[in-house]
Amino acid sequence: MDKTIVAIDGPSGTGKSTTARILAEKLGFLYIDSGAMYRAITFELLRNNVKPTDLKKITEITANANMTFDGEEFILNGKNITKEIRSLEVTNKVSSVSAIKEIRKILVDKQRAFAADSSVIMDGRDIGTVVFPNANFKFFLVCDLKTRAQRRRQDFIDHGLKIPVEKIMEELNKRDKIDSSRKESPLKKAKDAIEVNTTNMIIEEQVNFLYRKIKGLD
Ligand code: DC
Repeated sequence: MDKTIVAIDGPSGTGKSTTARILAEKLGFLYIDSGAMYRAITFELLRNNVKPTDLKKITEITANANMTFDGEEFILNGKNITKEIRSLEVTNKVSSVSAIKEIRKILVDKQRAFAADSSVIMDGRDIGTVVFPNANFKFFLVCDLKTRAQRRRQDFIDHGLKIPVEKIMEELNKRDKIDSSRKESPLKKAKDAIEVNTTNMIIEEQVNFLYRKIKGLD
């Protein structure tokens, strides 16, 4: 059977991960959350107090990181860090960590290896532009800032944290700026990606939109 690769990119809070996870289940594909991989490295660097200038240690930690996940649980070197990688501390640091060239190179290789022998849906920022420029399907999700912040606020509430929407908007804006202006693999829409504006869509609609395109129904 031929492998199919689906790339889903876009800024934070556009519903990429939720859409990708449900879609992968529907299609029977492997789901890879590449953002979780950058988060895991951020967590590990913070845990080991590694300085952003210590490239030797950064490279060593990233290269030795053994990551497995099933869409729900994220395991790094045998430790379940599903909750830890969503903490505010990691969230606030991950954009600057993911701008480090040495980390990107190693994680991109690991991401490609995940797709070596199965069909995958991978979401991130550079999947359609750098990781899989020849993906069979590329989607770029966008959504207005306020809606993204409101969705994130709900996620935080579900995890027991109450954060004002304005504060979340500020953080999202900051993260978008770093992600799209960095030198290495900045967030940008691949020329051949289908743009999907999710501002007025519920998750089922997003999933269906992508599903129908992949199945050739639309
Ligand atoms: O999707 P997310 O919010 O979990 O991603 C966390 C951070 O990781 C995000 O700020 C940018 C970075 N990232 C990246 O640079 N490249 C990817 N392919 C995925 C995420």
